Amino acid sequence: MDVGTSRIKAAMAEIYGQDLHILGIAHVPSLGLRKGNIIDIESTSKSIDNCLNELERLTGIEIFGATVGFSSVSISIISNHAVVAVGNPIYEINEEDKQRVLQSARNISLPLDRTIIQTVEKQYIVDGYDGVKDPVGMVGSRLEAEVAVVVGAVAGIQNLQRTAHRINLRINQLVYNSLLAASAVLTPTEKEMGVGLVDIGGGTIEISFFENGSMINTTVLAMGGEYITRDLAIVLRTSMEEAAKIKENHGLASPDMANSEIMLNVPNIQGKETSKISQQVVADIISARVIEMSEMIMAEFEQFGCLGYMPAGIVLTGGGAELAGFAKVMEEYINIPVRLGWPENIKGIADEYNHPRNAALLGGLLYNQQNIVYTPAGNSQLNSMVEKVSSWFRDLFR
Ligand SMILES: Nc1ncnc2c1ncn2[C@@H]1O[C@H](COP(=O)(O)OP(=O)(O)OP(=O)(O)O)[C@@H](O)[C@H]1O
Ligand SMILES: [Mg+2]
Repeated sequence: MDVGTSRIKAAMAEIYGQDLHILGIAHVPSLGLRKGNIIDIESTSKSIDNCLNELERLTGIEIFGATVGFSSVSISIISNHAVVAVGNPIYEINEEDKQRVLQSARNISLPLDRTIIQTVEKQYIVDGYDGVKDPVGMVGSRLEAEVAVVVGAVAGIQNLQRTAHRINLRINQLVYNSLLAASAVLTPTEKEMGVGLVDIGGGTIEISFFENGSMINTTVLAMGGEYITRDLAIVLRTSMEEAAKIKENHGLASPDMANSEIMLNVPNIQGKETSKISQQVVADIISARVIEMSEMIMAEFEQFGCLGYMPAGIVLTGGGAELAGFAKVMEEYINIPVRLGWPENIKGIADEYNHPRNAALLGGLLYNQQNIVYTPAGNSQLNSMVEKVSSWFRDLFR
């Protein structure tokens, strides 16, 4: 499930080894979030419940838990490094040594209001030899790990947990959205060479840099497609819903692409009267924000110090990036190759779901496939039932 500012999205798939079979995808409008943060638990839990009910209806399968994609302006990344001596007398590195060095690398001191969301393994170094992806089974006496720790505000995560708890949904795992989107759209070569990934959502923009196969840096800006919608609603004196429709159906990232003879109908706020506006004017309003967003994104990459290290360019995901001409305008403006990120790493998705806006959601299915823990079918269902009933009891006596 992807708990976004504009939409809550959920997907379910069956996993057969290397194959994913998508059973259903549901989307509902998201109420209760601003800039990626939950500001109203009641409305957010209702939206999530609507989304999961829709997915249950589509698949005929009851949902007890989900892997949840998470993003917030509070997110930052900290690089860390740890060393351990290999315990085994014949110096064969085992899983225990790997977990020990990871645990040690995760040991960072944080302010009280921050917590670790995820640890990303960058590389291992065995007796001074770097670039090791998995040290288990190798021989060495000194094991080092380099990790990137994704950190976020405790309050944001607790609010998400409370929201889920209210509808008896178990959060199996919380994963940073940008890592999920990356698994859906980036190729191994891009991640190895150096690539920027930018997810333009409704209220947030996640900006990440990948190199040598892993995420090196990331940040989240409080900006997104809803800012364009609001500009249009104010200038055209119409509702946010109508402004979003105009943007999505007729919007263009640059006035150069527009046809001034195409006139669009704009209902007034009450929806009773309609005026006319040319596509050119709409594109003018939109393009100002597109340039502003491109500038802000580039400033962040500059801050990361990676501008000269992105031979694979920038890949855009998120609904905001689906604005016609966005990638082209950004590419011209920043002079670095920019492409739209289609979730192509997931095979066999129906055309209606094959969109950049679904990158993080579908990446979540891949993430589960790669990190699945098999439990005997009967038992896992029973466990979920026990969990659901016990959380219901917890709710009752709170
Ligand atoms: N075809 C389109 N053209 C322009 N904008 C679009 C298009 N389709 C969707 N959008 C915009 O994309 C935004 C929603 O994108 P997305 O679903 O990725 O956001 P979200 O994940 O809910 O939000 P966030 O990631 O900020 O929490 C909205 O502002 C919507 O208007
Ligand atoms: Mg999003």
